[in-house]
Amino acid sequence: MAGIKIVTIGGGSSYTPELVEGFIKRYDKLPVKELWLVDVPEGKEKLEIVGALAKRMVEDAGVPIDVHLSLDRREALPGADFVTTQIRVGQLDARAKDESIPLKYGVIGQETNGPGGLFKGLRTIPVILDICRDIEVLCPDAWLINFSNPAGMVTEAVLRHSNISKTVGLCNVPVGMRMGVAEMLDVDSDRVQIDFAGLNHMVYGLNVYLDGKNITENVLEQLVSGEGLTMKNIVDLGWEKDFIKGLGALPCPYHRYYYQTSKMLEAEQKDFAEKGSRAQVVQQLEKDLFELYKNPDLSVKPEQLEERGGAYYSDAACSLINSIYNDKRDIQPVNTRNNGAILGLPADSAVEVNCVITKDGPRPIAVGDLPVAVRGLIQQIKSFERVSAEAAVTGDYQKAMLAMTINPLVPSDSIAKAILDEMMEAHRDYLPQFLKAATP
Ligand code: G6P
Repeated sequence: MAGIKIVTIGGGSSYTPELVEGFIKRYDKLPVKELWLVDVPEGKEKLEIVGALAKRMVEDAGVPIDVHLSLDRREALPGADFVTTQIRVGQLDARAKDESIPLKYGVIGQETNGPGGLFKGLRTIPVILDICRDIEVLCPDAWLINFSNPAGMVTEAVLRHSNISKTVGLCNVPVGMRMGVAEMLDVDSDRVQIDFAGLNHMVYGLNVYLDGKNITENVLEQLVSGEGLTMKNIVDLGWEKDFIKGLGALPCPYHRYYYQTSKMLEAEQKDFAEKGSRAQVVQQLEKDLFELYKNPDLSVKPEQLEERGGAYYSDAACSLINSIYNDKRDIQPVNTRNNGAILGLPADSAVEVNCVITKDGPRPIAVGDLPVAVRGLIQQIKSFERVSAEAAVTGDYQKAMLAMTINPLVPSDSIAKAILDEMMEAHRDYLPQFLKAATP
């Protein structure tokens, strides 16, 4: 590759300046020649605002990256080396429904877990698979790097239901956990290493090291004595000391939904009553961000972006692209084909695990058996992801019902059915596969 071409689908996202900053910082090693920001026609205004900021950022930094804007991904894709996807089908209004409808039934409303995660998957997967079909034809050698949530389920769908094999799913949770531990210990994050294993938003730090010395116990001790690890979008309710010590591994912030279900539900209901859903909070944050982005004198990423849960995502993305491009063979946690790294999970399923990143993609590092206490939950979430992906692809109502019911956050089949039907109706404009499947 001489001069890299990147195509970012969902380029009008408020997160895009992070990505642009990441490419600018790494330009010496990762010479991006063309950056195409692509969005749907409804996102034209946002794309133009973010695109203009991206152009000012590269100009101000003095790097020769050509930023192109397009509302047609088929125009952008030819010749791409990397395609990144950060889409939100139905925008934040759909997220608001994912978060608020389940709450009415006393079930956690969250955009990647439980019913919200299922519906985000049902809306997103068909679009990602369409993108895969375009990649196959227009840039068959490109890497597809997906951040769209639910990232684990989307990666599972791409691996099982597309012809694309050069794909990686990415999330900022592992990097956020490493940064959080570094902050807890008051050390530079480069000195902290974590053995990550599990699934997306269901990943554990099996061992934590400082300069190569295993300090897991010390970190867990701090975790239970008030130094909670969390992210902007997830409330920190502390942990029961004996649970964490018994677990012996570092949970991720999303584990709170499974291990503290009733407390998290109460907190979400309270938050919802006081401030509205997280989607509504983010809508306001986005409004403010776009006002800032419009300022013609702004040519760097504004600090306010750090109020979003996705902080550090560009670090994860740019480090990954850099390591593939330069065959760095460093270790990064990503979502990829298990290939036997985690025993007990299918070889052809997506897992989130530390990998050696080579020019041929991630090589998962063998974990072996997961601790017996976490195996069951991981299996259940993997079943949920697989069944959900199948429902998204086929438009089979009973598969969607199955996915909803086997999710551990949903307490019964009847509640599952009530939530499913209300959400199907609320999101019907974005679920054409179910309407087609229902037509005789
Ligand atoms: C975390 C998750 C991301 C998610 C984000 C939501 O960072 O890892 O997958 O997209 O939070 O943040 P938001 O600011 O949109 O609530």
